[in-house]
Amino acid sequence: MIDASRDISHLAPPADRELVQMLPAEAYTSDDVLTWERRHLYAGAWTCLGRVDDLFPPEGTVTQRAVRVGDVSCLVVRAGDGVNLFANTCRHRGHELLPLDGHSGGESTKRMISCPYHAWTYDLSGRLKGAPGFREVESFSFEDHGLVELPAEVWNGWVFAHAAHPVGAAEVPPFERYVGDLARMLAPYDIGSLVVADRHTYEVAANWKVIAENYHECYHCPLIHPELCQVTPPDSGDNYDLPGTWIGGGMVLRDGMASMSLDGSLAATPLPGVNPTAVEYLHLLPNLLVSAHPDYVMTHRMVPLAPGRTWVECSWLTLPSAAASGAPGAVEFWDITNRQDWAACESVQRGLESPHFRPGPFAPREDAVAQLVSMIGAAYRSGGLSA
Ligand code: FES
Ligand SMILES: [Fe+2]
Repeated sequence: MIDASRDISHLAPPADRELVQMLPAEAYTSDDVLTWERRHLYAGAWTCLGRVDDLFPPEGTVTQRAVRVGDVSCLVVRAGDGVNLFANTCRHRGHELLPLDGHSGGESTKRMISCPYHAWTYDLSGRLKGAPGFREVESFSFEDHGLVELPAEVWNGWVFAHAAHPVGAAEVPPFERYVGDLARMLAPYDIGSLVVADRHTYEVAANWKVIAENYHECYHCPLIHPELCQVTPPDSGDNYDLPGTWIGGGMVLRDGMASMSLDGSLAATPLPGVNPTAVEYLHLLPNLLVSAHPDYVMTHRMVPLAPGRTWVECSWLTLPSAAASGAPGAVEFWDITNRQDWAACESVQRGLESPHFRPGPFAPREDAVAQLVSMIGAAYRSGGLSA
């Protein structure tokens, strides 16, 4: 049994160096470190679970669904336009309320949550309503045996969960403070009103942090992304340093280019009120990468499967009126670019597994990667991401 509470502060990069350097290989290759991260950086932070419309399609009848948040099995429940989140653990003897194997699990259309082991039943607010044989037991309180409620938020059409602590716990940072100025950065895109025009999923043979580090720099672009360099100069743009548990920067399109597509033309109807020459690359830690374009918003949502394996869901969101066409120009462009990135990340992962790997320094143009690694290092020291 691996202990998620063990101290991994020795893996943080030395704070006294002028150049921030990569984490040691163990941070990218060890089961113990991933166990720690699942508890402290995923369950113990505001992790993105995907689009609310994917968990609960508006025209569908699903009321509840099992999901894994880091190392915590959860039950996400439809509640009007929002969601409630509970520990997927029965208050009788701990049976799962819906099965969960892997990172997504069973679903139900029932109006009650009912445990398949001895039929304890709860309403959709988590209150215990039925416990066979207990009505006669005077010392038993139904009120004291409701499901453990966990913090969840719907924001911009995504569901976020903080699964390590119950609602009201002091360890849970308020969601508004956690996202900080990212809310202002994304406001013009009105992402809650956009819909998924297309989606690809990938399984990448690399650690989730290798993928995030790669996302945060274009130092590699001239070598591996010829198509991308046609539409944005790889050295354009600056990174932001604003409140919130996010990192990112913007890039500008080349003159005459309207969006990121193979020929630089628009891939969908322009989003009203957004900067027509900018592309924003923003990462809300731990697992949501938001790439906002003049005409579409692309997201990558990461779920670590193993130290060297990550599931990535890539979604392209457009105005509802443009979604039926599927934004093929954006999908084709980014699928090529994604695969170029995954090949580089997988090569890094293989390099990290060499006994001769030594952490190298980040270049000045990798300042956002240095910021990410510094935030992760600080979390290794303090026990969690700070908001
Ligand atoms: S464990 Fe759920 S009813 Fe017994
Ligand atoms: Fe890239």
